[in-house]
Amino acid sequence: MENDIEILVNKENKIDEFYKIGNLVEPKEFIHKDCVFDESENEILVDERVYIAFKEMDEFVRKSGYKVFIDSGFRSFKYQMYILDMYREKYGKEKGERLCAYPGESEHQLGLAVDLGFENEEGIYISSITEDSDVFEFMKENVYKFGFILRYMKGKEHITKYNSEPWHYRYVGKRLAKILFENKICLEEYYQDKDKFDNWFAN
Ligand code: DAL
Ligand code: ZN
Repeated sequence: MENDIEILVNKENKIDEFYKIGNLVEPKEFIHKDCVFDESENEILVDERVYIAFKEMDEFVRKSGYKVFIDSGFRSFKYQMYILDMYREKYGKEKGERLCAYPGESEHQLGLAVDLGFENEEGIYISSITEDSDVFEFMKENVYKFGFILRYMKGKEHITKYNSEPWHYRYVGKRLAKILFENKICLEEYYQDKDKFDNWFAN
């Protein structure tokens, strides 16, 4: 389904180069001044539904004393290839491919995924949320309220086929985010038993 916020994209469920994405916008106020752009000079863009949800979430995050920023958003098929090549070069083929998806297999191509960085207590920008940070503990428990999910969780690596990524959040809308959070499942597990979980939500 084109443009569907609940779509599953992974190694088995691919999209092609021509997948029709939603309207892309620049989330200017959520890009940190110290965010380092790579040589490709791609700007940061996200689906406008993500932008709206992110604004709502950011208000809550800030009130709670944390500051998060978008470090990566939409990536075209071509740009994903560029990043994959970069990772392979830096980490070798195996590790590079565990960190970065193949073009057509990345949620970033939907415009519905964001990689988040944060400003620490010293005001220093950290470009990826780290596993051991307080902000991660906070995000893990709260993002679902705004329609986001922590997409690659610890303990689900055998299902998602990616290492845990504390910085990668996917917008799926509030309904699905609540289902996944409360049932402690990842997106793949939802689609394995969709009717059961849809009924859980409805009742
Ligand atoms: N790092 C995630 C898996 C991606 O490249 O989409
Ligand atoms: Zn990501």
